[in-house]
Amino acid sequence: MDYRTNSGRRIGQVDNSMKSDKNYFVHFSAIVDEGAEIGEGSRIWHFAHVCGGARIGKGVSLGQNVFVGNKVVIGDKCKIQNNVSVYDNVTLEEGVFCGPSMVFTNVYNPRSLIERKNEYRNTLVKRGVTLGANCTIVCGVTVGEFAFIGAGAVIKGNVLPYALMVGVPARHVGWMSEYGERIPLPIKGDGEYTCPHTGSLYILVGSSLNKQEKIND
Ligand SMILES: CC(C)(COP(=O)(O)OP(=O)(O)OC[C@H]1O[C@@H](n2cnc3c(N)ncnc32)[C@H](O)[C@@H]1OP(=O)(O)O)[C@@H](O)C(=O)NCCC(=O)NCCS
Repeated sequence: MDYRTNSGRRIGQVDNSMKSDKNYFVHFSAIVDEGAEIGEGSRIWHFAHVCGGARIGKGVSLGQNVFVGNKVVIGDKCKIQNNVSVYDNVTLEEGVFCGPSMVFTNVYNPRSLIERKNEYRNTLVKRGVTLGANCTIVCGVTVGEFAFIGAGAVIKGNVLPYALMVGVPARHVGWMSEYGERIPLPIKGDGEYTCPHTGSLYILVGSSLNKQEKIND
C-alpha cells in the first residue's frame, strides 16, 4: 500500500533503515516538522508527529501515534509509549517513562468558547520518573525524581521524589526505588533501606526520602 500526503510525501510503507543523512530513525509514516531538534540514536515510530519547536534528546523512543508539541523538551533516554501527546509547556527530564495512552494537559480549566492559549500551565517531570499506563497529569505540577505513578492514576499536585502514587485522585501509598521496586519504609518517619540490586542507600527523614550516593572505596 502506498499513500501520499498533500505535499507528495509517501506514507504507509515500512522502511526500517536510518535516514541516510541523520543519526536518528524516523519511520516513513511519521511527520517531523522542520526545525525540530532530535538527538542521536532516537527512534520515532509509526504515525508520530513532532512539531518544529520540539527539542528531543539522545536515545529517545517515541512510540506509535505520539504527538510532541512546539514548546516541549524531552530529555535523553526517555521512552514514550503509544498514543501519548506531549503538549506545549511539558518538560521531561532524562529517562522519563510515559506509559501507553497516558495523558498530559496544559490548560487547567478549558472552555471551547474561551481562548486560553496564554494560560498554559507548566508541567515538569523530573529525572527517572515512571508515568503508568493511562494516568493523567493535570497541568501545573512537578513530579519529583524517580516518582512512580501507577496505571490510571490522576495527579493533581506536586509529587515527592521516589513517591508511589495510585488511584483517582492519586494517593501517596509508598516509595519506589530507582530500580523500580517497593521500598519497605513508611510514608513518614525515620528509616533506611538498601536496594539489593544496586546497593544504593535510601534514607527517610520525616516525609522525604533521599538516596545517598555510594562512596567507592
Ligand atoms: C504500582 C504497581 C507497580 C504495583 O506496585 P506494587 O508495589 O506491587 O503495589 P501493590 O500491588 O502491592 O499495591 C499496593 C496498593 O496500591 C494499590 N494499587 C496498586 N497499583 C494501583 C493502581 N495502578 N491503581 C490503583 N491502585 C493501585 C493496590 O490495590 C494496593 O492497595 P491496598 O494496599 O489497599 O491493597 C502497578 O500496580 C502499576 O500500576 N504498574 C504500572 C504498569 C504500567 O503502567 N506499565 C506501563 C508499561 S506497559
